[in-house]
Amino acid sequence: MEKKIIVTGGAGYIGSHTCVELVKSGYTPIIIDNFSNSEKFIVDRVEELTGKKIEVEEGDCGDYEFVKSVFKKHAEVSGVIHFAAFKAVGESSNLPLKYYQNNLLSTIIMLKVMEEEGVSNFVFSSSCTVYGEPDQLPVTEDSPTKPAESPYGRTKQMCENIVTDFSKVTKGFKGIFLRYFNPIGAHPSSRIGELPIGAPNNLVPYITQTAAGIREKLTIFGNDYDTPDGTCIRDYIHVVDLAKAHIAALDYLLAEKEDCLEVFNVGTGNGNSVQEVVDTFQEVTGVKLNYEIGPRRAGDVEKVYSDATKVENGLKWKADISLAESLKDSWNWQQSLK
Ligand code: UFG
Repeated sequence: MEKKIIVTGGAGYIGSHTCVELVKSGYTPIIIDNFSNSEKFIVDRVEELTGKKIEVEEGDCGDYEFVKSVFKKHAEVSGVIHFAAFKAVGESSNLPLKYYQNNLLSTIIMLKVMEEEGVSNFVFSSSCTVYGEPDQLPVTEDSPTKPAESPYGRTKQMCENIVTDFSKVTKGFKGIFLRYFNPIGAHPSSRIGELPIGAPNNLVPYITQTAAGIREKLTIFGNDYDTPDGTCIRDYIHVVDLAKAHIAALDYLLAEKEDCLEVFNVGTGNGNSVQEVVDTFQEVTGVKLNYEIGPRRAGDVEKVYSDATKVENGLKWKADISLAESLKDSWNWQQSLK
């Protein structure tokens, strides 16, 4: 039987890579996207990469009537992967209501329509931001969650709470929270990748845009942290590896007979410093980066990286693309945008 999966935000960075992997694994993605932070040509590229026509329903996940009509049109949906959300940490502090309205409402409406339509399998895009500055490293799923630093982070925590409360009273519901660490890289074909609007907030797109001459200079935000080289440590995961974790999550949910709500960290299990990322980028691309050390950025945690044991055992999934390879793919994608 055809396994149809609704993918909200399916034209976005992680969403588009996941659609490619879904098709490769025999699933049929149905994209819901309002294209507020994504481009239609990316869907064409997903079709090109998979050789399959991809159905797209253009609209807003916060619009109940619209979401309902999509579920009615595509009867027998097997599950939902809910990516659609605003994600700019800085913007969320300036426009908190925009973030709360969009990110919370879309999640609530997805759950409501799933319940009404009898769709039980739900994969939610969460973030390691829920751990804040962890007391112990690596971070396991049992590590305590901490108050988030931004409204964006709070929407992720609040959505987890909403799904958790809903799951307790909804018979047949099966859900997984995937707590992503730092996604980087692009499809090795360079046909899909991240498309930041304006100056990127995140490290790797800022590096590639600087290398491409779009930005004058990268600023490393602080080198006086308590880390071996003084710069912050993160767990950088290739977006194709991350996409594959969603397939593993769906496979798990579809095979599971009992109601469940599971949490998995999705990272490599390794921490790399900002300086290491910069050095590795220069090494693998041969491009000299213009960069300087600047002050710390407000709200940054010093170090966070995942314990990947639970996801490796539970979902039979493991990241296998190196930092060097990931940065090469990011750079190839950047160059393809000329
Ligand atoms: N950094 C720089 N210069 C830059 C950009 C980033 O030095 O121009 C540094 C940051 O200070 C940080 C590291 O690079 O130490 C990674 O920064 P990112 O902005 O790429 O990623 P974050 O870890 O800050 O944020 C990511 C996701 C968020 C999520 C958060 C959870 O982008 O969505 O992880 O910790 F909320």
